Formats: sequence, C-alpha cells, structure tokens
Amino acid sequence: MTLAFQNISEAPTDPILGLNDAYKKDTNPNKINLGIGVCMDDNGNVPIMRAVKQAESYILKTQSSKTYVSMIGSQDFIDVTNTLLYGESFKSSHTTTAQMPAGSGALRVGFEFVKSCLGDLTVYAPNVTWGNHLGIIEKTGLTHAKYTYYNAETQSVDFEQMKSDLLAIKEPSVILLHVICHNPTGVDLTQSQWDELAILFQNNTHLIPYLDCAYQGFASSLDEDIYAARKLSESDINFIFAYSFSKNMALYRERIGALSIYSKDASKSYAISTQIQSIVRGIYSSPPAHGAEIVSTILQSDELKAEWINELNNMRERVITLRSELASRRPELSFLTQQNGLFSMIGLNKTTIDTLREKYGIYIVGNSRINIAGLSPSSLDYLCNALDEVHQPA
Ligand SMILES: Cc1ncc(COP(=O)(O)O)c(C=O)c1O
Repeated sequence: MTLAFQNISEAPTDPILGLNDAYKKDTNPNKINLGIGVCMDDNGNVPIMRAVKQAESYILKTQSSKTYVSMIGSQDFIDVTNTLLYGESFKSSHTTTAQMPAGSGALRVGFEFVKSCLGDLTVYAPNVTWGNHLGIIEKTGLTHAKYTYYNAETQSVDFEQMKSDLLAIKEPSVILLHVICHNPTGVDLTQSQWDELAILFQNNTHLIPYLDCAYQGFASSLDEDIYAARKLSESDINFIFAYSFSKNMALYRERIGALSIYSKDASKSYAISTQIQSIVRGIYSSPPAHGAEIVSTILQSDELKAEWINELNNMRERVITLRSELASRRPELSFLTQQNGLFSMIGLNKTTIDTLREKYGIYIVGNSRINIAGLSPSSLDYLCNALDEVHQPA
C-alpha cells in the first residue's frame, strides 16, 4: 500500500492559479494582479453584486428544504437560462439544457458526452485558447488539435485561414469556439462571420460546433453577445454549448453554469437528456443548488433582473474605459480598444514579464495575457511607469 503512494509525483502547477498564489504571498504594497480572470473594482476587490445579495436574502427567508436537486438541475434555473441564452430563438423540443457546476463543469460534462455518445472525436481548439480548455479535453481522454484563429501580428482573427482550416477537416470532429470575449486575446468573430460559420456547419455536418460562453454581457450587451448561440439554433445545427455565470453574476465560487445541447432531430432530445443525467450521476450525482437559486431568483424578478443588468453594464463600461485609457497612454497598445472583455495579450516577452513580477509586483500570465479588469486608474499609472522603466515597448 505505502509503496504505491511512494510513487506519486507532483502534478504541474496551473499557470494562472499558481501565479495567483505567488501574488498573494508578495509583500509589495503596490502589487497588481493582472493574472487571475476576475472582475475587480478600483480597490482590487471582487464585490458581490447587489442583485445577488438581495436574491440571497430572499432565498434565506423562503428556502424550506435542502433536499437534492435532480441530476439535470432545477427546472426554474433551466427555464430562465434558456430564455437568457436563446431569447426568441429558443426551440424547446430540440434543446436539452442542464444545470452544471460552472463553466468548467459544463465543459467537462459536454466532453464526456462527446466521448460516450459521439466517439473518440478530435477536438479542434483555436490556436490560442483558455489554458484549461486543453486540460479538460485531455482529462476526458479526448485528443485535441488547433485551427487558426488569432493572428498575433495583426492582433485580430485570421478568418479566411480559420475557414480553410475547418474545411480541411474531413473526419467527424468537434470545433471548440469562444462565443464572446475570447480568452486570452479579446478578439471576437463578427456577427457576419458567425453567419458564414453557420453556413459552413450546415454544409459540413461532420463538424460539431462546441460553444463556450463565459462572458455574456462584457462586450456589448446580453443579447448581442450571445448572437452565436442564437444563430446556430436558428440555423438548425447540432451543437453543444457550455455556459458560465461565474463572471457576469460574479458568482465565481458558487460554481454555477449550464450545458445546453441542440439536436437537429428533436426526437433525440430525450435520449440526450438521459445521457447527460447518466454522466452527471457518475461524476457528482447532482449539482449544487445555491448558485442556481440565485440565478433563478434574479432572472424571475423584473426588479432584480434590471438591477443585475445595470451592475453588469457598469462592470463592462469600467473595463472599456480602462482599455481606452491604457491604449491612450501606450499607443503601441491601440488595438486594445478593438478587443472585448477582460483579457488581451500585450506582446511582452518572458524577460519583461518576469521583471515586472519580481521588481514591481505586477503579475501577468506567461503568454502576456493581462486582465484589464485587474487595473484601476492608479495601478494603470504604476503599470505604465513600470513599462517605461523596463524599456520594452509593450
Ligand atoms: C473561456 C472560458 N471558459 C470557461 C471558463 C470557466 O469558468 P468557471 O468554471 O469559473 O465558470 C472560463 C473561466 O475563466 C473561461 O475563461
């Protein structure tokens, strides 16, 4: 017994969470955390939204049981989520939506669904993507490959190359796509590019789009940001969709998200639902309730929903303002205003990233991704001065 344990070696540190641990230990009073992807205020706090606080106080007063939630989740949560995601494009008989432990949990269950129901398909991810995508795919036992998405020289999407890479895939495959606020580049597809992709998927049914949305509301508005999912649903394309409420309701630790699967053949929806339940049963049996109750309470109340949208709009405007201030201070970063959401890659080399961390307490992920929402007017000054001093154009 002991022998087996003696053979255990250390797992590699997660690059983003490891950086966060190092930040916490740093005693520099001016330190700035541009690593972890959370939406902070000007004091570096991650506040609880007022709408969430009100929903929680309502739940505390009215909740009468802590019995299990069903494997697929609470029906109230599923209904409000379907409305938020699909609006008038919602086609109930074709869509199976389930409550999930946040976006990461949804991604994992979705990939388990691919593996057990569609086979050992290769998952094609953008050439630059959220680090944990590849980890989750690997832990599911699926293989991954890349398609061209981000062009580092133009800081934009290379859409022609992207389409040609997708068209070159001849085997049945899964295509992972960021719906909005691409992490880590902030570079998104336009609505007309999504229209073109919808046609591409209609004509190439061996390619299954797998959407990931963790930032609805951070680019333009709730409705505009979810265009991709509505377009694919309207276009009657089989697709898988992982969704997170971690950022747009600031519910990070409550672990609340959803998995939604659209089936062109509506007669398959029931089978899909049973498969999802069977996967859930084998991993965590049923989802945690609190986050889902907060989401349902907010989205079922006109008043709380309006409050939430107002707070989300303020978070978005704050990030947009920080983007334009940083771009105006450092002209070589003018592209920041063309990009969306919390993240952008600012082209720093490893030496500069290390110097910024060691000498100035400025924490940036190794691929040069910064979380714009980790800045404030004063830390923005500090960052710009540090960049001047390290003499590397960002
Ligand atoms: C692109 C993307 N997808 C999914 C997630 C999952 O987030 P969570 O599991 O916290 O909901 C994140 C979080 O950073 C993300 O950036």
